[in-house]
Amino acid sequence: MIGDLGGGKSVLQKTVQSAVVDRGARAICIDRTPVREWATFARGSAPGRCQVIDAAQAELSIDPLRLFPGPEGRQYALNYLTLQLGLGAMSIQGEVLHHAVEQAAALPDASMAKVMDALTQSAAAVRAHAPMRPPRWPGCCAWSPATRWPGWCSTRRCRSPG
Ligand SMILES: Nc1ncnc2c1ncn2[C@@H]1O[C@H](COP(=O)(O)OP(=O)(O)O)[C@@H](O)[C@H]1O
Ligand SMILES: [Mg+2]
Repeated sequence: MIGDLGGGKSVLQKTVQSAVVDRGARAICIDRTPVREWATFARGSAPGRCQVIDAAQAELSIDPLRLFPGPEGRQYALNYLTLQLGLGAMSIQGEVLHHAVEQAAALPDASMAKVMDALTQSAAAVRAHAPMRPPRWPGCCAWSPATRWPGWCSTRRCRSPG
């Protein structure tokens, strides 16, 4: 939903969400606003029928890597983190995040905490001038000199040594 500041985006979204909830469905909102506008709205419009989860004081897990095994969880985790961190999916940072999610998701006890571990390891490896080199993307035929990541293949998703 796109519009000017104060143009009515939030009001329209809340109107739609109310209608959806009143028809028996469920709405899940990720609230990044400092004033917690969606929490206030939920408590006011659906008292007793809403649940506000504060990520800083969590009592329930909404960790996508723990809730959704396989590719589904990986995609949810990547979508969530890309949005929350404000990263471009095609940026180098987005690429690093993508790799960290893949690494974490491949573990038997996959979780978002493991994504943090993977990012910490990546940072340490870069600092030590020994970047980790994940496997070549299957089917990629381009072993071109890296342009996006020094020493690595520049083809999207293929991170083989260039
Ligand atoms: N359909 C509407 N009817 C009346 N007032 C509206 C309507 N949509 C928005 N407003 C007014 O404009 C203000 C800003 O709208 P808001 O949805 O918060 O904007 P945005 O999220 O696009 O920045 C609201 O607080 C409300 O007072
Ligand atoms: Mg708004």
